[in-house]
Amino acid sequence: MGIKFIGVKEAANVYTVGKDFCLEHAGKAVLRVTALGLYKAEINGKKVGDAYLTPGWTCYHKMLQVQEYDVTDLLQKGENNISFTVAEGWYKGRLVYADKMNIYGDKTAVWAQLIVDGKTVVVTDESFVAKESYIRYSSLYDGEVQDFTAPVKDLTVCEIPFDTSVFVPQICEPVRDIERIAVKEMLRTPKGELVCDFGQNIAGVAEVSTPEGFEGTITLQFAEILVDGNFYTDNLRTAKATDTFVVRGKKTLCPEFTCHGFRYVKITGGELSAECVTAIVRHTDMKRTGTVNTSDAMVNRLLENVVWGQRDNFVDIPTDCPQRDERLGWTGDLNAFCGTASYNYDVRLILKKWLADLRNEQAEDGKISHIAPDVIGYHDTASLWCDAIVMVPWKLYEMYGDVSFLSDNYEAMRKYIAARESNCENGLMAKGFEYGDWLALDKEQCLCESGNYFGGTDVYFISNAFYAHCLDIVAKSAAILGKTEEAEAAHRRYERLLQSIRGEYFTPAGRLAIGTVTAQALALCFGLAEEKHRERLAKELNENVLRHGCRMTTGFIGTAYLLFALSDGGYHETAGKLLLNREYPGWLHEVEMGATTIWEKWNSLLPDGTPNPEGMNSYNHYAYGSVMEWVYRRVAGIQYASPGFRRVKIMPNAIRTLDSVHAEFESVNGKIVAGYEKHGNSIRYFAEIPEGVDAEVCLPGEQTVPVGHGKFVCEREISPE
Ligand code: BGC
Repeated sequence: MGIKFIGVKEAANVYTVGKDFCLEHAGKAVLRVTALGLYKAEINGKKVGDAYLTPGWTCYHKMLQVQEYDVTDLLQKGENNISFTVAEGWYKGRLVYADKMNIYGDKTAVWAQLIVDGKTVVVTDESFVAKESYIRYSSLYDGEVQDFTAPVKDLTVCEIPFDTSVFVPQICEPVRDIERIAVKEMLRTPKGELVCDFGQNIAGVAEVSTPEGFEGTITLQFAEILVDGNFYTDNLRTAKATDTFVVRGKKTLCPEFTCHGFRYVKITGGELSAECVTAIVRHTDMKRTGTVNTSDAMVNRLLENVVWGQRDNFVDIPTDCPQRDERLGWTGDLNAFCGTASYNYDVRLILKKWLADLRNEQAEDGKISHIAPDVIGYHDTASLWCDAIVMVPWKLYEMYGDVSFLSDNYEAMRKYIAARESNCENGLMAKGFEYGDWLALDKEQCLCESGNYFGGTDVYFISNAFYAHCLDIVAKSAAILGKTEEAEAAHRRYERLLQSIRGEYFTPAGRLAIGTVTAQALALCFGLAEEKHRERLAKELNENVLRHGCRMTTGFIGTAYLLFALSDGGYHETAGKLLLNREYPGWLHEVEMGATTIWEKWNSLLPDGTPNPEGMNSYNHYAYGSVMEWVYRRVAGIQYASPGFRRVKIMPNAIRTLDSVHAEFESVNGKIVAGYEKHGNSIRYFAEIPEGVDAEVCLPGEQTVPVGHGKFVCEREISPE
């Protein structure tokens, strides 16, 4: 049977195509489905599977996922019905800032095959009948309109040609409804609006139930914050984030094809009680692998905010934010957050899929798109952002020990390095677009001049630092993959670049000529400073941070490296102060201001509680959540000594004013526990190593000791300050 993509001739935002069919006997049944757009499949009136936003977001013309469901239990002997409701989603719907539509195509369509006992019994073709759906409209940014009262018109089925050679099976865990959250407080705002507070900023939808006898239109609007107690949506920019339900009678209502980023829901059209409204957390169903608990409730809240930031932004692809008219797979955000993400959750599959898109979007000349899947068309060598093609596979290889992250991406890495080389002059990066230390506060104008978000660190210093780091990774990757000559060539280029960087950015006496915190942190973390000058540089960095009152001034780049640079340079206590500082700007300042996720900018909310007037204020951006990787690795001390934690280094390092830290991480080689607890004048370090893993323990100021598997406890006197 010829399986076709089918859509409708008429212009319809959402529609349903369906068919009755007869089965002589009901046997083992499998349904294979995909769509140009989003689909919901139903058999005999029941939703097939429990996934949402299927078939997911990929660069559809290169890779389109096909889902496979066991539908044995949904079918019966005799008469059956199968239907598919199709919405625009990422394929055709509104995406990116303004009104960019039809990015992948101007017609949505569905493709399906029902196989019973190995025999294809139904395929999508012109024998299906089409009609409008009770879902009148759906958009990822704008929300959904469901009308259960208006009649639905018939539509005309037609074939939509599409190349099926790009089909691939589902790669990662599906997006599911993961958790239900009850209303924490029902509010009447100063403006008199009825608003539910769920107490947590999430990605998902709200479900509402109308009472018996209800007749009317319920509208739900979604927001992340209240300003002066009032419902506030300016930071969503053009995203309408509104669900509308036209209903008669008692009904439970929930949108199908959309997702919102919210803590607050404004209800109009009915005086619903708190019991009638539930928030549903909707995201990719990854397995949780890491937790950290400390003696400080504020720190715990911060770490919870980081985890929520990950949940809210791992919705089929890793996004920058879940709420405004953006929600894109920004490469720099993920690159900064990847370490934290891979401790918290098993992100292998979602990032394998995302990396496939990143490769698919790579330009001929090796340049990398700023987002994946790409819908804006920028390709470059921008540090941190475009470097994701090198750094993310390497990080995943280190975390999971799976060499396929290197082999799958090596060719793309190599081409990317050539692109970086083409932006060099006299051996140093000197051209190409850079985001700099994005959103850093160390450039005066950044606080007041709209659009100047690049921070105070010379962008080409950053670029050279990242190029060196990438070359080092490519050299190591080539060696692991047995490409000896390429490994040697990349290593030689790395060495030459290092010399050029030292010639350009360090004084002859070895002092770093750029005085920003970010420059100093990068020079330490990427090994740019000569060994003999590292101590002085670490000291300068420490003084620099102290001069800033241990407040955060760094952007996406500096923030990911600063605490590591301090801890490894002998200033762990200062790193601890940056973490624990409650004043603006800093992590705990956000917590003190009531944040339940990580903000995009340190000043997304000004200290007086009003949104930053510059705009671009997301209250759910995970980049600064990079701090949690440092907590796992440098405070609790769960550190890989070989890829995939086959060998581990346990190096807990206490912060004076933080009494205990307990971290657990389910590595691919078993569960690792580490941390410390203070009791009076003594401190107890502990660890748990799974069988089959070699471990070494390194306590502050002591020699590294090899240990076997099992539980370890070491007690030490706390030295006076
Ligand atoms: C996004 C960022 C992203 C940046 C790139 C913003 O609009 O939200 O997180 O990395 O653009 O400049």
